[in-house]
Amino acid sequence: MSEPTRLLVVCLGNICRSPMAEGALRRQLAEAGLDHVEVDSAGTGDWHVGNPPDPRAVATAARHGVDLSGLRGRQLTTADYTRFDWLLCADLQNLADVRARRPAEATAGIALLTDWAGVMTGDGAIPDPYTGGDDHFEDVWQVVEAAARGAVRRLQAPHRGDDA
Ligand code: 4NP
Repeated sequence: MSEPTRLLVVCLGNICRSPMAEGALRRQLAEAGLDHVEVDSAGTGDWHVGNPPDPRAVATAARHGVDLSGLRGRQLTTADYTRFDWLLCADLQNLADVRARRPAEATAGIALLTDWAGVMTGDGAIPDPYTGGDDHFEDVWQVVEAAARGAVRRLQAPHRGDDA
């Protein structure tokens, strides 16, 4: 049995992008048999702590066969920097915020989810869909599915190099 690999997806509110990425990752990792990989998500902000994901995120994931309804928002903590192997950020602002809060004892790698997973997007990585329409949520879903495929490829690679 491989050592666990722990991934934390981080966005701003933890009710749209990171729960969608968590759901897509969980499904694809399970389908690939990568049972040693653990996935969670968190937000840099605290507005939605304890709340379920945005209904538009839940509906979009449900259309693709993934149930997000049991997830609840939480805020990124100092402990996450040592508990997880990778803190995978949705956009460049999230990346800057996660880096700025990095404690001295941090062991986790910090990256953009799309870069880490080998997905090409514009500079904004995964744009915030919160103030957008349903089509924005579908766009996010397509990106997080692609990122999940990239994550499976990366974690299946025999010489993984820099992942824990
Ligand atoms: P998320 O989207 O970061 O993808 O979860 C947002 C959700 C809520 C807010 C901003 C972005 N908000 O300002 O409350």
